[in-house]
Amino acid sequence: MKVGVIGGTGLTGLADSATPLAPPQTPYGDAATPWGYADLPNAVFINRHGDGHVLLPHEINYRANLWLLRELEVEAVFAVLTVGGIAPELAAGDFALPHQIIDYTWGRAHTYSSGSNLLHADFTWPFTPELRTRLANAAAAADVPLHDGGVYGCTQGPRLETAAEIDRMAGDGCTVVGMTAMPEAALARELKLPYVGLCMVVNPAAGRGGAEIIEVADMRKVVAQMHPKLMRILRTFLAD
Ligand code: HPA
Repeated sequence: MKVGVIGGTGLTGLADSATPLAPPQTPYGDAATPWGYADLPNAVFINRHGDGHVLLPHEINYRANLWLLRELEVEAVFAVLTVGGIAPELAAGDFALPHQIIDYTWGRAHTYSSGSNLLHADFTWPFTPELRTRLANAAAAADVPLHDGGVYGCTQGPRLETAAEIDRMAGDGCTVVGMTAMPEAALARELKLPYVGLCMVVNPAAGRGGAEIIEVADMRKVVAQMHPKLMRILRTFLAD
């Protein structure tokens, strides 16, 4: 199965020797460059934040990225999502596999639908159940513990949340908070691309976990610590 891997803060490439697979132009503007790797022949990698990681979550061209992956005939999308942990059982360094999303974003180009092409895509289960199972199995085979299930609350960013906003999100049922799964997951659904999100918990969400404030430098350290495990999960998933 050809898999589009969408990385971001938690993953900026799959290996050192990458080859561009296609120009980035799409009818929706420029996507990030799609990369291929000799030793991972069934993977296409793009960094959702663009080449050089320059785009903030609300600036990302989600439509172009997904469109280009479909043009490259990927059959599934594996999204890597860094998040803050809201649920008490989640600690920095944990992996989580949410099954639901609540969208708190606004003003993002969030649909391919237009007046003449009206799409009411079913989104009851935003992460494709079969892919979630495959990913949970890959993590088990790679010997990496995973919190299976949870609700991803997607905020607008780029600022982090207030403690009260996190309390409200917890009340809504959110277990993790991030800024990039939406509209990505919904656009994948409009294109009928199976989509799964692997969350890397890189900090306790605002007001949780005892820290007075959240430092980006600390998040980066956690990302670096998690990288070998993430690659083990990914390689096992891709080899399936
Ligand atoms: N909030 C929103 N997005 C995030 C966080 C957070 O605490 N950590 C990593 N991405």
